[in-house]
This record gives sequence, structure tokens and C-alpha cells, in this order.
Amino acid sequence: MKRKVELITTSDGSHSLYLPEMNETYHSSHGALTESRHVFIQAGLKHYQGKYKINNIRVLEIGFGTGLNALLALRYAFDEDLNTHFTTLEPYPLEEVVYSGLNYASLFSDKLAEQQFLSLHKADWNTEVVMNDRFTLEKKEERLEGFSDNSKFDLVFFDAFAPSKQAELWTYGILEKTVGLMAPSAVLVTYCARGQFKRDLAALGLEVETLPGPPGKKEMVRATRL
Ligand SMILES: C[S@@+](CC[C@H](N)C(=O)[O-])C[C@H]1O[C@@H](n2cnc3c(N)ncnc32)[C@H](O)[C@@H]1O
Repeated sequence: MKRKVELITTSDGSHSLYLPEMNETYHSSHGALTESRHVFIQAGLKHYQGKYKINNIRVLEIGFGTGLNALLALRYAFDEDLNTHFTTLEPYPLEEVVYSGLNYASLFSDKLAEQQFLSLHKADWNTEVVMNDRFTLEKKEERLEGFSDNSKFDLVFFDAFAPSKQAELWTYGILEKTVGLMAPSAVLVTYCARGQFKRDLAALGLEVETLPGPPGKKEMVRATRL
């Protein structure tokens, strides 16, 4: 399914998308790249690798969207020698005319970024694609609500639209399902720090940390399955 989106520039110079039908953006207007790095890479991937000293990780992302988190994770995997299997769900893949207008590759000094970013978007859907010897991508054109997988994930990037815009993805039932997809000791990170969300995660047996958020956002959440 395709949806009409508009390109916007956020405060750190990186692009994001605005979705008029929801009156919502794909990232914080205070900096898409800054938010992505802060919430998903630093508080997620880097934290997990540092805590458990692992060489392999299975990541599940809710919402592939612009592919920014995937690009940062691919680059992290290469830089930090972390064998990453990255599964990402997206019911509304972007059209080429949209993703090719995003400026993410230009934010990196090396020439590889452009090719990495386009390969992530052009990779086939609903199958595993080996991007390089550190990173395997599996884009699934489906909703979290209907998603199931035989294996368990170590790290979840919970990057759905905000609860005020997409309440159905932040219910206790959906969180319970998500926790069911997580391995023991797995970690979930998100930019959202709503009270009810945190209480639901705690009720599901997770240890919930409220961490400083990226610019423009006081707090974010990291939750660990015990
Ligand atoms: C806040 S955006 C973030 C996207 C992405 N992580 C990025 O960096 O661009 C939320 C994404 O979730 C996707 N989405 C919407 N409904 C969904 C659902 N039911 N299950 C999974 N993803 C969904 C949207 O299409 C959108 O791409």
C-alpha cells in the first residue's frame, strides 16, 4: 500500500517525512539522524553489545519507513564487527521517488553510504538478503499485529508512530505480543516514555528504564526482559 508523504528537513539537517493523513512525522522535528542515533543505536545496539559482549544479534524493527535506523544499524555492524540479522516490518513501503530524495547518505563522509542506503531500499521484500558479511536484512511487508517468527529477537526497535496517532500499536495486547517475540534478556528501545506504556511493560515482567531522550524529548524508554 502507498501513502502520500512530504519531505521535510529536521533541525540537524537530516530529512524526514510528513504524513498528512495522520498529521505525523516519521522522526522528531528536532533531528531525525540525532534521534535515530540516540534512541536506537546508542541506547539500543551499543548498549546491548556492551552489556552482553556478543558477536551476533537479531534485531526486530517495527516500521522500516525511511530506512534510517536500518542504515545506521548496518554501518554499526560493520564498524563494530557485530553480525546482525535485521528483520523489519513495514506495511507501507516508500516509493523510489520518495526514498531517493532522502539526504541520509550525504550526511556521511564516505561514498559507501549512498550505495548502502539504496541497497537497503531496493532489497527484495519478504526474503532474507545478505547485504554484506556482517548484515543480513529481512524486510517484511506486513503489520506487527499479524507478524510471527520462529526465532526470538535480542533487540527490538519499537519505532511505530506516536501513541496519540496510532494507539492500536501501543496497547497491552500488542506489547504482550512483542514481548513474546523477545528472547530472555532481550531489550526493547523506543522514543516514547508514556506512563501507561511503561506500566504495561513492567506488568509484562520487563525491567523498565527511563533514560534522557534525544533533543526536544525529555525521556525515552529502554526495557529489558528478565
Ligand atoms: C515513526 S515511523 C518510523 C519509521 C522508520 N523506523 C524510520 O526511521 O523511518 C513508523 C513506521 O511504522 C510503519 N507502520 C505503520 N503501521 C504499522 C504496523 N501496523 N506495523 C508495523 N509498522 C507499521 C509506518 O508506515 C512507518 O514507516
